Amino acid sequence: MQRLSITRPDDWHVHLRDGAALSAVVNFTARQFRRAIVMPNLAPAVTRVADAAAYRDRILAAVDPALHFEPLMTLYLTDQTPASEIIAAANSGIVMAIKLYPAGATTHSNAGVTEITRVYPAIAAMEERGVPLLVHAETTDPHVDVFDREKVYIERVLVPLIARFPKLKMVFEHLTTKEGVAFVQHAPRNVAATLTAHHLLYNRNAMFQGGIRPHFYCLPVLKREEHRTALLSAAVSGSPKFFLGTDTAPHARGKKEHACGCAGMFTAPCALELYAEAFEQANALDKLEGFAAHFGAEFYGLPRNPDKITLVKDTWTMPDHYAFADDVIVPIRANEQVRWRIA
Ligand code: NCD
Ligand code: ZN
Repeated sequence: MQRLSITRPDDWHVHLRDGAALSAVVNFTARQFRRAIVMPNLAPAVTRVADAAAYRDRILAAVDPALHFEPLMTLYLTDQTPASEIIAAANSGIVMAIKLYPAGATTHSNAGVTEITRVYPAIAAMEERGVPLLVHAETTDPHVDVFDREKVYIERVLVPLIARFPKLKMVFEHLTTKEGVAFVQHAPRNVAATLTAHHLLYNRNAMFQGGIRPHFYCLPVLKREEHRTALLSAAVSGSPKFFLGTDTAPHARGKKEHACGCAGMFTAPCALELYAEAFEQANALDKLEGFAAHFGAEFYGLPRNPDKITLVKDTWTMPDHYAFADDVIVPIRANEQVRWRIA
């Protein structure tokens, strides 16, 4: 049986939610990943260092202590975030990065940034202090086609942004297009990107296979096959600019199978296994360790994890749902096969 042992990976983009939902999902992430960058899009949003510290305590109270999981916190950038909060974050020892949601772009983004120039003073403080800016890179202009939102955001916002702040550490989160890949490749070294397993494995046809498939609806939305192959090439290229970020985004089944369903895929129960499938598909399993366990830590200036994790080539069937607060949650691959498992 084929086995693959790699340094224990970290997840550089995860939604852990709060309350009963947090308790339902956090151990799926913690059993695979030592550390995770935790998104701040709660309601209300995590906008201050004090909120992040309290949220971190709630995560640590919910997680199985035997897993030694370390949540790395982020702050939610708003039009009003003062430069002083960025400085407090830089000195906090718990907040690792600041997340930029364009207002209206995705789940709980209403308090996000309405116009990029309004947050230039806060971004200047990030550049000066070396605090990474994590960007949900999609325009919210309703006239722009939903499949072009990433490409247009690059042109309108990111190109001017990196010209104005050339030393800013920036992560282009959940990259989904070939234009995004090209942007990151040609940007300076301080610009990197996370890639999800689902965008490496699926194209937009998955949303419409024999009917509408709400569990394949996420943001940024799945794109054409030519984009998926560009993402996979970037992931297996060995470039340290591209690293793992699952964007596991759990929503109760009732909120997904709905007339106006929520965006997000719950991938945490088989995240690393799905990345292994993608890398195997590209004949590049030897590149998985750098992508999953080395490059992200390097970007964030953290040491590599000391322990290892072993993947075994062995097929198992994902349950059709898991318990989730007062509803259930449907994971990716529900009732379908996963081709790797964790030993
Ligand atoms: C995320 C969520 O549900 O919080 N949804 C998603 O589709 N990825 C928000 C986000 O990262 O856009
Ligand atoms: Zn996300």
